[in-house]
Amino acid sequence: MILYFSATGNSRYVAAMLARELGGQPVMDMGLYMRPGAERLTVTLAEGEPLLFVFPVHSWGFPKYLAGVLASMDVQGYVPGRNYVGLLATCGDDAGRLYRMWSETVSRAGLRADAGFTVFMPNTYVLFPGFDVDKAEVRDRKLDAAPAAVRQVAEQIKAGVRGDFTWRGRLPGLKTNVIYPLFARFMTSDKAFRADADACIGCGRCAEVCPVGNITLTAVHPLREGKHMPVWNGRCLNCLACYHYCPTHAIAYGSKTQGKGYYTCPK
Ligand SMILES: Cc1cc2nc3c(=O)[nH]c(=O)nc-3n(C[C@H](O)[C@H](O)[C@H](O)COP(=O)(O)O)c2cc1C
Ligand code: SF4
Ligand code: SF4
Repeated sequence: MILYFSATGNSRYVAAMLARELGGQPVMDMGLYMRPGAERLTVTLAEGEPLLFVFPVHSWGFPKYLAGVLASMDVQGYVPGRNYVGLLATCGDDAGRLYRMWSETVSRAGLRADAGFTVFMPNTYVLFPGFDVDKAEVRDRKLDAAPAAVRQVAEQIKAGVRGDFTWRGRLPGLKTNVIYPLFARFMTSDKAFRADADACIGCGRCAEVCPVGNITLTAVHPLREGKHMPVWNGRCLNCLACYHYCPTHAIAYGSKTQGKGYYTCPK
């Protein structure tokens, strides 16, 4: 069983590849369980079935709201040592101490973490100064390398290897233990999101792709009769799916997106 979360498609693509490499594992989207009022995530494992988590690194930690889903999930049929529990995080650069954070979180749901891996995928975060999507050649190199990297992870999972094989990068403790909590608390507000009325065609794509249902198409469009524009409703994880998927690039985050690029997984 592969449980994934994806904002801009990288982790969905990686989860699908991993499922294939492991002989057709079922795949389930955890985004549905991150919405307000969602029911508890419940999973039933067959004998020996692995339980694998695929999601993006967000500020060297969990995407906001995902930790709560994992800590409270109900896993039936799990036998430590028989059902392999693994993490495959997608990241643009490095994961910090995400493995430790993830293993502590799943232990609250009664699971023993066996191993963690990372795969490099094109970057999607553009809001910090100096951060942007990857240049075309870096993006394409990562996309070209991903299938072999996932195949290698699948081989390690099949072999039952245990340990933290994630790419932690420099100063992982500072990034995960200090920057991540500040990010999750103070830098995930949606107050700075705006759609430009000249560019917005009222298509509703932003509302469709928001993984936590934070956008409603409820503002009357000032320029297009009968059309509506997005409203952000205050429960955001700053995943930037709305920004990246908007077909007319109408969405900005204050001045922080000025001059920044766009990316969604083409696979
Ligand atoms: C809010 C946010 C924070 C991110 N933080 C990190 C990070 O700390 N380290 C990193 O290597 N990549 C980081 N990224 C990049 C994503 O982890 C990477 O692009 C990932 O593959 C996106 O997956 P998705 O398309 O499935 O959402 C971040 C992206 C976002 C949106
Ligand atoms: S995706 Fe873009 S164009 Fe479509 S409704 Fe949202 S802001 Fe407007
Ligand atoms: S509003 Fe935009 S940035 Fe916030 S969670 Fe939804 S898609 Fe992600």
